[in-house]
Amino acid sequence: MIRQDIGKASWWWPVAATNSDREHIYLDNAASTPVADEVISEMLPYLKHQYGNPSSIHKFGRETTRAIQLARKRVAELVNASPREITFTSGGTEADNLALKGAAIHAINSGRGTRIITSSIEHDAVLEPCKDLERLGFQVTYLPVTSEGMVRPLDLKKAMSSDVALVSVMYANNEIGTIQQIIELAGTAHEFGALFHTDAVQAAGKIPIDVKAAGVDLLSMSSHKINGPKGVGALYVKSGVKLAPILHGGGQESTLRSGTENVPGIVGFGKASQMAGERMQAYGQRITQMRDYLVAKVLREIPHSRLNGARDARIPNNAHFTFFGVNGEDLIIKLDEYGIAASTGSACSVKKQKPSHVLKAMGFSYEEITGSLRLSLGLQNTDQEIDRAVAALVKAIGELRQLSPFKSKYA
Ligand SMILES: Cc1ncc(COP(=O)(O)O)c(C=O)c1O
Repeated sequence: MIRQDIGKASWWWPVAATNSDREHIYLDNAASTPVADEVISEMLPYLKHQYGNPSSIHKFGRETTRAIQLARKRVAELVNASPREITFTSGGTEADNLALKGAAIHAINSGRGTRIITSSIEHDAVLEPCKDLERLGFQVTYLPVTSEGMVRPLDLKKAMSSDVALVSVMYANNEIGTIQQIIELAGTAHEFGALFHTDAVQAAGKIPIDVKAAGVDLLSMSSHKINGPKGVGALYVKSGVKLAPILHGGGQESTLRSGTENVPGIVGFGKASQMAGERMQAYGQRITQMRDYLVAKVLREIPHSRLNGARDARIPNNAHFTFFGVNGEDLIIKLDEYGIAASTGSACSVKKQKPSHVLKAMGFSYEEITGSLRLSLGLQNTDQEIDRAVAALVKAIGELRQLSPFKSKYA
């Protein structure tokens, strides 16, 4: 196991060796993060000896129930919720689906309107359930965004009416990192009696979130974005807010989400949340400093490059660029050859091979979209890695521009 001593407390560098080959530099932490050593240690007993079903009343069941209670408390504390407001799910995707479909189905059952308002830059975990709800007869409004990827609160106000059941706007965008004006948006939704959901998968554990101060009713989180295991997440459901379950069965998670609990995953998520909460300030400072160093170096050393997204209202670990005269997919392949793991933005969109709907909504031209690249940082990264990554970028972009039909313009 490789540890890197940067002279901080043990939680500062909480992650196990990130790659089998440390020569390869991982700059795709928005897609997923390495699981912290401390998280693995807490999970192990629940993979080995503590295998009881939490629904069982015997000693084995009681032990796993207690472990889930502790995890629920830790996840709740990360966003200033109370433990009973946390419902564990199989990840951010399920949390988003539960929020949207659960609120929509409850709205039908309770005679509330059938309109939903969301933004045009949401993750597919929100957009796809919205499309499904449209097929079921809901009317969904997709709010536009500014060229920095910001939803204007006034646009929401104009779109609102008393038949809106739910407004869903993400806390921070997974591609360009822009942080939305959640307090204003939630306030507007409430003025019209609608519920407000936010997908905080990219924000929770990275920037301080207080569900009470933000005034949100529903908030989605995911464990694997904060050095926890994959396949586990949570939905914060404000006390008193009613949702219809979308998974029916044994009634676990206060009947909102049936299915035997993923005990090791939940335990790991709890530990990762506790660690993220404790190191939040240090994380923010360290990652922002490293990100700003990266951005300045890229813009200085690579001509015809541009930073996308908001300058200030931005999560610390995100740097998103357009490199003119280069195809982002080709760049990722070349960077991989040079030992750098990067991304164009959303792992899901890459699989679907479609141009980014986020950048389209921001009004980017085809050239600006295809030339885009996201570098997302984590605590395992170092300034030396940033230097090596930028050197690889300079080389890769230089080579690709030589082959480009726009060579005379950019090379
Ligand atoms: C903003 C956002 N929402 C939802 C998800 C889905 O989360 P999960 O991978 O836990 O299903 C992601 C994952 O990348 C995300 O970035």
